[in-house]
Amino acid sequence: MDAPTTEADLDGDDGWQPAPRVVAKPGEFRPLQIGPLTVDPPVVLAPMAGITNAPFRQLCRSFSGGRCLYVSEMITARAFVEGHAKTLKLASFGPDETGRRSIQLYGTHEGALGEAARILVNDWGVEHIDMNFGCPVRKVTSAGGGSAIPARPKLMARIVRAVVNGAGSVPVTIKFRKGIHDQLLTFLDAGRVGEQEGARSLALHARTAQQLYSGRADWDAIAELKQATKTIPVLGNGDIFEPWDALQMMRQTGCDGVVVGRGCLGRPWLFGEIVDVFDGKEPRPLPTLGEIKATMQQHARMLCAFFSEKHGMAQMRKFTGWYLKGFPGAKRQLGALHMVRTLEEFDALLAPLPDHLPYPIGSIRARRCKDGRPQEHVALPEGFLECRDEDVCVDDPLEMDGG
Ligand SMILES: Cc1cc2nc3c(=O)[nH]c(=O)nc-3n(C[C@H](O)[C@H](O)[C@H](O)COP(=O)(O)O)c2cc1C
Repeated sequence: MDAPTTEADLDGDDGWQPAPRVVAKPGEFRPLQIGPLTVDPPVVLAPMAGITNAPFRQLCRSFSGGRCLYVSEMITARAFVEGHAKTLKLASFGPDETGRRSIQLYGTHEGALGEAARILVNDWGVEHIDMNFGCPVRKVTSAGGGSAIPARPKLMARIVRAVVNGAGSVPVTIKFRKGIHDQLLTFLDAGRVGEQEGARSLALHARTAQQLYSGRADWDAIAELKQATKTIPVLGNGDIFEPWDALQMMRQTGCDGVVVGRGCLGRPWLFGEIVDVFDGKEPRPLPTLGEIKATMQQHARMLCAFFSEKHGMAQMRKFTGWYLKGFPGAKRQLGALHMVRTLEEFDALLAPLPDHLPYPIGSIRARRCKDGRPQEHVALPEGFLECRDEDVCVDDPLEMDGG
């Protein structure tokens, strides 16, 4: 890893500078303590809807020697409590996930949330529950959920309390954004609520809901939250694409850990690289196309074993473009890969791609998933901001997409 990376398809030149390539010094960073859980190095896989199911978590874990913490995609509390088959499947864990069963819950009503937490802890053996207060998608915020909730701190307090009570001794953490938009920042309130109501750590995705995934994450806000938080760890989230970014975020903001999202899409080995630099070593070499093909085949087989071949391959389609991003000639196969139905077809489509090609370093920071535009406005329920002191929510939808 010696050539500097570029920000190929990221938003225009805003003075971004690559992070220094200086590995961690012995004792420079402490393990992350989330209640009774020790996470060493202090690195967490971000919950990502449609992505961080059991097979993906297992794949990421395999590169890090079982270290770091891997959170499930968001599970809607009401659908879980009502026993919806799809939700129960997505909430399930792999056989390797003992001692680290980590799940993200979404909901707006304390009844379903508290009950979901109780079932997850008592019957499912869950060891960590994260709460989603960052989802910016229209369907969620227009129902007063996700990133809208911190704008009503009393409501937020009520539902955090319900989950903390339901979870008993299992640690509950919260993840949220900077705010609704630049004129309505809520992250300091959210952190205060979390601290007061018994959350065991805070994670800040340093963008507003209006920004979605556009622009650069505001790491200064992470530093500000860290300064304001006295009793629990603060995790920073946003724009970690290379192992150096993880170290830089911790050095620059003083945060206690980092949360990695889009950087690992089609790049699950990023967790191995991050472990290396926290261990004070140069990161392992980037994979060749041949090694990536092997990882893709492993990923596809894991998804098929978990979901069925039909649904597993349907899931795998979206990963193929991320895995092959930037490789010359790969585009020719992508059309067919995006329609692939069986493992046999998949293997046959990968076969002609040349194994020896080195990793296209310039594509590391290329946009993966989510486009780079903000939303015009954040949809909220009628009158939501006029009575921010209310502690009731408007709706408790059953099925939600993450974000
Ligand atoms: C496809 C996708 C799905 C996401 N789903 C969730 C989710 O279910 N819960 C959540 O808290 N955040 C979700 N997020 C946000 C990420 O957890 C993370 O906060 C965000 O991507 C910023 O981190 P990054 O810059 O490392 O990607 C999602 C992001 C993506 C790209």
